[in-house]
Amino acid sequence: MILRKCHQILASHSRLIPLTVGLALLGVVGTIDWWTGPELDFSLFYMIPVCFVTWYGGQRFGYLTSMVSATVWLLVDRLTGAGASSRLVVDWNFATRLAFFAGSVLLLKGWKNVARTLSNLVEQRTLELRKLAAQLSAAEDAERRKLAYEVHDALSQSLSLIRMNLDAMQVELADNVQGVRRLVDSSVMVDEAIKQAKTLMFDLHPAMLDDLGLVPTLEWFSRDFAQRTGVEIVVSEYGKRLSVQTPVRNYLFRAAKELVTNAVRHGHAKEIVIVTHWEASGIRLVVDDDGSGFDNSVPRSPGAGTGLGLAGIDERVQSMGGRLTVESRANQGSRVVIELPIPSFVQEV
Ligand SMILES: Nc1ncnc2c1ncn2[C@@H]1O[C@H](COP(=O)(O)OP(=O)(O)OP(=O)(O)O)[C@@H](O)[C@H]1O
Ligand SMILES: [Mg+2]
Repeated sequence: MILRKCHQILASHSRLIPLTVGLALLGVVGTIDWWTGPELDFSLFYMIPVCFVTWYGGQRFGYLTSMVSATVWLLVDRLTGAGASSRLVVDWNFATRLAFFAGSVLLLKGWKNVARTLSNLVEQRTLELRKLAAQLSAAEDAERRKLAYEVHDALSQSLSLIRMNLDAMQVELADNVQGVRRLVDSSVMVDEAIKQAKTLMFDLHPAMLDDLGLVPTLEWFSRDFAQRTGVEIVVSEYGKRLSVQTPVRNYLFRAAKELVTNAVRHGHAKEIVIVTHWEASGIRLVVDDDGSGFDNSVPRSPGAGTGLGLAGIDERVQSMGGRLTVESRANQGSRVVIELPIPSFVQEV
């Protein structure tokens, strides 16, 4: 943590800071070299200020430090009596040390350039992938909505007409007991099919999301979920409602459904609380459960073999400029928070 802070300070401020620190380091190395005498070899340590200044201060200051480093080394050699007797050898030593330092500066600079290029490339690719993920999600939404309307128009309406015909036939064939019984059985089956079509439509795309918004749809979902599973879901909201753009609203609903499913499937939760906070800075959706909890330190990524739910939400929320936070401990339930900023995705009603 401290090291990261120091790295940030050195990387973000004037290049004179690394130069000053590097020269101070060189002073320390030179003093220790002089103090320990000619027997102890300190060649490696003269590299430290050179590398440090090159990394944080750039190539030019790196060469400057190389020069000063080679000079200090020469001075210390003289002071400790380690210097050669011939002037030519002294010059040669100075020149080879300087060349070695300068070569290291060049190598280090090249390495830093490669590292920067790679890091830029990774950043650019990550952005492109996020954009693609957002487009895929929007396309999935559109497809789901289309399917939901098709199920409504083609299937549900036909089933309702069949149901009405069956009712009419029951009246017409009133004296045929066997026939009426079969018609009643068929009506029950058609009712069941209508119910299934409704569930399918809701799973694909709840029309009420478009009409009523996120929280009423979550309330409807929670009632239906409680009826089907016996798990109680409490839905509430705080603050003045915001009008959320369609893809964001659809995604938040799907994410909440995934979190509820996780709580029941993995945590065996009996009670779940979904709270939507409408805040000046954006939306905060909090899903709490009283389930078994889990080890949240396991890395979440599509390739980590831990499922796609949370990793997918994390990725998508980040692509919208938001943040996913998971707090969970064994046997203490889980809390998942999705935060989305206001600027590009939500506007006040
Ligand atoms: N609310 C929760 N309670 C207990 N464990 C959870 C909870 N949410 C997630 N987990 C744990 O985290 C893991 C990852 O969840 P995630 O939703 O990413 O994947 P998954 O549910 O296993 O698979 P997928 O969502 O792709 O069908 C789960 O396998 C489960 O062990
Ligand atoms: Mg899941």
